[in-house]
Amino acid sequence: MNRKNLKIGLFGFGCVGYGLHEVLLKTPGLKANIKLICVKDPEKKRQISEEHFTFDKNEILEDEDINTVVELIDDADAAFEIVKTALMKGKSVVTANKKMIAEHFSELLQLQKQYNVPLLYEAACCASIPIIRNLEEYYDNDLLESVEGIVNGSTNYILTQTADEGKSYEEALKDAQNKGFAESNPILDTGGFDAKYKLLLLVAHAFGVIVKPNDIYNIGINKLGILELNYAKEKGLKIKLVAFAEKNQEGQITSFVLPKFVDKHDKLFAVDDVFNGVKTKSFFSDIQFFVGKGAGAYPTASAVLSDISALSYDYRYEYKKLNTNDKLASDEDIYLKVMLRHDLEHAPCFKKYFDEIHESYLSNENGYIIGIISLKHIKEISNKKNAEWSLVLFEVVKRN
Ligand code: HSE
Repeated sequence: MNRKNLKIGLFGFGCVGYGLHEVLLKTPGLKANIKLICVKDPEKKRQISEEHFTFDKNEILEDEDINTVVELIDDADAAFEIVKTALMKGKSVVTANKKMIAEHFSELLQLQKQYNVPLLYEAACCASIPIIRNLEEYYDNDLLESVEGIVNGSTNYILTQTADEGKSYEEALKDAQNKGFAESNPILDTGGFDAKYKLLLLVAHAFGVIVKPNDIYNIGINKLGILELNYAKEKGLKIKLVAFAEKNQEGQITSFVLPKFVDKHDKLFAVDDVFNGVKTKSFFSDIQFFVGKGAGAYPTASAVLSDISALSYDYRYEYKKLNTNDKLASDEDIYLKVMLRHDLEHAPCFKKYFDEIHESYLSNENGYIIGIISLKHIKEISNKKNAEWSLVLFEVVKRN
């Protein structure tokens, strides 16, 4: 098959941009060359010579010779402007910016259609795991029931290093930053926002449903405390930050990002450090499991490279599952079995939010409640100012 020649304009030369540059040099079979790289800071010392760089985005966007834009910058708003202009000028685009895609999904769909150009973003979700293309192509007819996974490398690294290696949270976060795993604003990782943006992409390609970031509830790992970490240890469990989406037979989708207790029978139990893991469950094939490095220069660059390669034979997402009548389930219909750790003051008030209480505990400092609670009530607890609490999921509870 004849591959297209790709002339690439690259935006961003951070960890992933540099990784891509290296990876492309090692892949000469692919007829793809970086013509120019646009970066922000003229003062910064870079690993390759100056003539490769520009500081003016229009030198790429207005160059008709450049048919492909690879966007790997950090700022989601600036990234959207670049991607939008590139698509409008008929250039194919590859991006790894999950926040940007999640915030502008509908508009990006429209632009692809209107200007008849592809936008690929495998690297935006779970880095080296080819999950988007699998959901899009492989699961286009089997009845997919759920997608559940660890989709953020930094938080998984922090959880592993604190629970198994005895590092402090701060030390583990610093390591994740030094290794190039974390976002520049690490609250995006630790607060579960990055995982939510990725989940939004998974929901779109798994179920054909486009939602907005605010529609998916997320709790990160930044509020976890000793009580729940010790509870996990005593019971032989691990706490993992899990992104979850499940469709019921009425086409209603339960979707959230929460820290979750996982036991040794769960495939996610052994997914440690920077690795991500995604379980799919579908009617015919039952459970399948994808695993791979979820962050870092080369794992992310490998997914960008795969998208570039796909563009060279004119691949594009067809979004075959879009326009279904499926939608997110209402918060009052979603019931979860959780452990809620709370301060002493709020113990009586928080108990009232539970439908069932299986266990509760109080010390001189704090306490916990284990039981069943609706997502609606969890959100009400989240809105309480001045309350000290955290929550870890055991499981989603089926109720009719
Ligand atoms: N900060 C992200 C993570 C980078 O840790 O997973 C990869 O998307």
